[in-house]
Amino acid sequence: MNHPLRKVVIPAAGLGTRFLPATKSVPKEMLPIVDQPTIGLIVDEALRAGATEVIVINGRGKTAIEDYFDRSYELEDTLLRKGKQELFEQVRKISDSVSVTSLRQKEPMGLGHAVLAARNAIGDQWFGVLLGDDLFDSEEPGIAQLARVAAKTGKAAVALMAVPDDQTHMYGVAAGVRLPDGNLAIAKLIEKPKQGTAPSNLAVIGRYLLPPDIFDILEQVKPGAGGEIQLTDALAVLAQQGRLLGVTLQGERHDAGDRLGYLQANIAYALKRPSLREGLLAFMRKVSQ
Ligand code: G1P
Repeated sequence: MNHPLRKVVIPAAGLGTRFLPATKSVPKEMLPIVDQPTIGLIVDEALRAGATEVIVINGRGKTAIEDYFDRSYELEDTLLRKGKQELFEQVRKISDSVSVTSLRQKEPMGLGHAVLAARNAIGDQWFGVLLGDDLFDSEEPGIAQLARVAAKTGKAAVALMAVPDDQTHMYGVAAGVRLPDGNLAIAKLIEKPKQGTAPSNLAVIGRYLLPPDIFDILEQVKPGAGGEIQLTDALAVLAQQGRLLGVTLQGERHDAGDRLGYLQANIAYALKRPSLREGLLAFMRKVSQ
């Protein structure tokens, strides 16, 4: 197998309806966690895992994402002229550290359809998919944990997390056989099962390590839940072929696609900053009295 993590795909073509009206003009992937856009944190995770090429699948009006990863001559020049060397270096590092290619998804036809748009850019190699709604804070990057399992077993890998029974309808849900190493040999995968019909409470969270033939499978997949081409339905084919493992990642996941999860992520990341921690804790004590 090639090194499974040279290229990663970040689907960012969603409409961000949960964050309207802000997302009327700002892509949800650009909403900040403290001072970094969520997509910046996701790209960091991929880079720390050894990825060298990031393919962002954009919808309409997502030039803000392209601009973020591009050089900004005016800004860099102004920062230098004002003697703000440290900020200049921070800004410059973003465009220097990664090659980001941006592709258009012409219609919002689902996550599977968005991943399929990366087919030519990926070619014939294993790749990672990172969904921007799921922030993963861990020492070994979440996607690297999957890459390690895929490299060792030759199988595709998805991240799993146990969720309360009343939340399974919001996720892809997996069931299968627990292996001695703790991973799950997935036999069944269902996208957003109706309440009370989930095969387990093990939800897929947004990290995937996939083989190139997933594109052939995606080409064949019929519209599923919500009338969309679902990545989950293509993964279910891999599961039927005995080629899909579920991995419970070590680390903390935040659902930044949900308003409460987004606020919690901001607080969790801010509390890790020595310059913000005490002030934030004092404020939270005050408002919670
Ligand atoms: C997507 C996937 C779903 C997965 C979830 C993880 O759903 O379709 O299988 O469990 O991401 O966040 P979405 O949240 O985009 O509706």
